[in-house]
Amino acid sequence: MTIHDDNTINVGTLFDLTGKIALVTGGSRGIGRMITEGFLQAGATVYISSRKAEVCDQVAAELSAIGPCHALPADIAQDDDRARLVAALGERTDRLDILVNNAGAAWGADYADFPESGFRKVLELNVTALFFLTRDLTGLLAQAASPDDPARVINIGSMDGIKVPTVLRTATFPYSASKAAVHHMTKALALELAPRHITVNAVAPGFFESKMTQQSLERFRDDIERHCPLHRIGRPEEMAGVAIYLASRAGAYTNGAVIPVDGGTCVT
Ligand SMILES: NC(=O)c1ccc[n+]([C@@H]2O[C@H](COP(=O)([O-])OP(=O)(O)OC[C@H]3O[C@@H](n4cnc5c(N)ncnc54)[C@H](OP(=O)(O)O)[C@@H]3O)[C@@H](O)[C@H]2O)c1
Repeated sequence: MTIHDDNTINVGTLFDLTGKIALVTGGSRGIGRMITEGFLQAGATVYISSRKAEVCDQVAAELSAIGPCHALPADIAQDDDRARLVAALGERTDRLDILVNNAGAAWGADYADFPESGFRKVLELNVTALFFLTRDLTGLLAQAASPDDPARVINIGSMDGIKVPTVLRTATFPYSASKAAVHHMTKALALELAPRHITVNAVAPGFFESKMTQQSLERFRDDIERHCPLHRIGRPEEMAGVAIYLASRAGAYTNGAVIPVDGGTCVT
């Protein structure tokens, strides 16, 4: 990525990620895969991580047709596995330009019957693992960071963390709370890491096609689209686009932001 130290504007290189090294958790499918494809097309080398090793390997091999993509399978909700991932990445690279904390889980159940295990699982992955993975990769991020070109942490939150979701009619208490926590932690981490030239931002997606949303889209797609001011769900390019913006020179001055990418749903 070219660094511009004058006041000219060069859109030709503004979104370029050539030479950048990224880790995308949950990069094997859904939103993580959309972001990975975008980063690869923009010139980055991307490490993807997810639990199912075979799938992770297979997707990395497939995406290598676009650019260098490597699998580092791990369950980031498990302390020892997360430590293994940090060590494995450290063996392959001495710096990390972009960390995308995307892996997440949802759980829906009635208020009266909400299982404690499901509640804990969602908070553990969406909040606790995100914090400790970021903390444990801060050294590698700092190695890539400079005042002109900060390293980037991009957290995937949700519009459900901005506005209480109603359209699915199934309660998702820990999910919405976890995403509100992600948004708040994004701001706290942005302050903590700015002195080390690492920016931290969040994307708050609306509905995008993925395994997580498959059932909801099958059952309630009409309601979901009606509820969105643009009357449609998001497209893969629109998720790749915001992530490329945040990861590239274009986003170098954006810090502590939570960017909704939901067709305006969260302002209804
Ligand atoms: N899709 C949407 O409309 C939408 C909207 C708002 C926010 N989001 C957020 O976007 C993120 C991605 O969601 P998605 O819809 O793409 O979900 P998805 O299709 O279920 O994909 C989740 C990804 O995370 C991986 N993963 C799950 N648990 C993991 C763990 N413990 N350790 C490592 N990897 C793990 C999965 O692979 P394995 O199963 O192999 O581990 C998969 O690659 C989530 O944070 C979600 O909350 C999605």
